[in-house]
Amino acid sequence: MSANRPAAVVVLAAGEGTRMKSKTPKVLHEIAGRSLVGHVVSAARELEPEHLVVVVGHARELVRGHLEEHYAGTRTAVQEEQNGTGHAVRMALEELGQAPDGTVVVVCGDTPLLSGETLRALADTHAADGNAVTVLSAEVPDSTGYGRIVRDAATGAVTEIVEHKDASDEQRAIREINSGVFAFDGQLLADALGKVRTDNSQGEEYLTDVLSILREAGHRVGASVAGDHREILGINNRVQLAEARALLNRRLIERAMLAGVTVVDPASVFVDVTVTFEPDAVVLPGTQLLGATHLGEDSVVGPNTRLKDTRVGKGARVDNTVADSAVIGERASVGPFAYLRPGTNLGAKSKAGTYVEMKNATVGEGTKVPHLSYVGDATIGEYTNIGAASVFVNYDGEAKHHTTIGSHCRTGSDNMFVAPITIGDGAYTAAGSVITKDVPAGSLAVARGQQRNIEGWVARKRPGSAAAQAAQAAAEDSAGAS
Ligand code: UD1
Ligand code: CA
Repeated sequence: MSANRPAAVVVLAAGEGTRMKSKTPKVLHEIAGRSLVGHVVSAARELEPEHLVVVVGHARELVRGHLEEHYAGTRTAVQEEQNGTGHAVRMALEELGQAPDGTVVVVCGDTPLLSGETLRALADTHAADGNAVTVLSAEVPDSTGYGRIVRDAATGAVTEIVEHKDASDEQRAIREINSGVFAFDGQLLADALGKVRTDNSQGEEYLTDVLSILREAGHRVGASVAGDHREILGINNRVQLAEARALLNRRLIERAMLAGVTVVDPASVFVDVTVTFEPDAVVLPGTQLLGATHLGEDSVVGPNTRLKDTRVGKGARVDNTVADSAVIGERASVGPFAYLRPGTNLGAKSKAGTYVEMKNATVGEGTKVPHLSYVGDATIGEYTNIGAASVFVNYDGEAKHHTTIGSHCRTGSDNMFVAPITIGDGAYTAAGSVITKDVPAGSLAVARGQQRNIEGWVARKRPGSAAAQAAQAAAEDSAGAS
């Protein structure tokens, strides 16, 4: 942990983000399972600031609601009109009541790739150099649109930041740009913000002007150059959103791979920031791992699988499956083509096989539901086998009911278990049964019509048909054979 705990971090998120062409405010768009502002707030929290203030303006109720729901403890300051980044920071300081004593870090709400590590390095440089302001800069291949860092030709010292729109041709050639992230001395920031003017091409209060104001007043200003310019990528449109998603996804997968996870095709796998892995987990192509999903040691997931908030136990196999809020036990086998809905809890070595859907179901150790079945609102004991094409009939049109099946049962194929119902340990049921009454332990339940064969029906009712001819031939064959 850094000794340079900032007094405050201010996140600027009042802008509309018109270039997203969206009804959703820009900072609420998501990549890797987190909103853009959520990524920034998460990175900011790593600095453990005394105060974390997000400046909101456009669609503020939505943004504020989102922050309250997911980032409790974050304060918001309202910027009624978007009069510029300097004005936005001024609103944040007003919200805090007084100029913070100590470092104030300012970040933009649309730079989701910025890491806590980079913010910390900036705060550390700022403190070590005794600066009044330190800007996080970066060398970018294309500096169009960014504010340029202007340095003194002789000393290399930072003199000012010039916005693209206000820059001369010579300044536009500069490739070192302002990332929009700063560390300030809180008191000096508050003083300087009072002196920022609006005589620029956009008629706005530029936060960037604070730098030259402080330098002209004789304070130290500095720049900390980001190691990787991609980290400060600001999202203005959906092309950049996809670019940031790809970069973050790659970063998350590389972290997993370096921690011992095999990812066969990183380009076709998507991982949320909240996913966790154990070493020797294997992820096959076309897989999305979302939310609080966890993959245990030696588990093999994919191909073509989407897991959300799902725990996969050690050595489990999950193939071509969709699962949401499920728990998959150690060495369990799921799929191919299974759908596990919320509340599914598969015991160790159990199986939810091909074309099997489960919901709110607890399946005991070693129990198998191998083929073509729906298991909803059920508890099944250990080492039971559910026959192919079975349906747990849990819904009477108004309410859901529970089915309980014991351990070591063998239920026949094509059974309907009409809930509420209980089947005791070791019981069997006959194929094709519609089970409507409880089955005591150890019994065989048969619940289907008796078979009746009406001989000669085809010859009488379908004379001359292919079926009748086949029947006729069969009759002659057996007559000839006898
Ligand atoms: C800004 C910087 C520029 C830098 C670039 C980095 C200024 C004047 N310019 O330009 O030097 O290279 O970021 O991406 O600071 N915002 C508010 N209230 C406002 C205006 C903006 O909250 O009144 C927020 C926006 O929601 C956004 C951030 O501040 O999150 C940056 O604003 P934006 O308009 O995108 O600034 P740029 O023109 O990109
Ligand atoms: Ca921007």
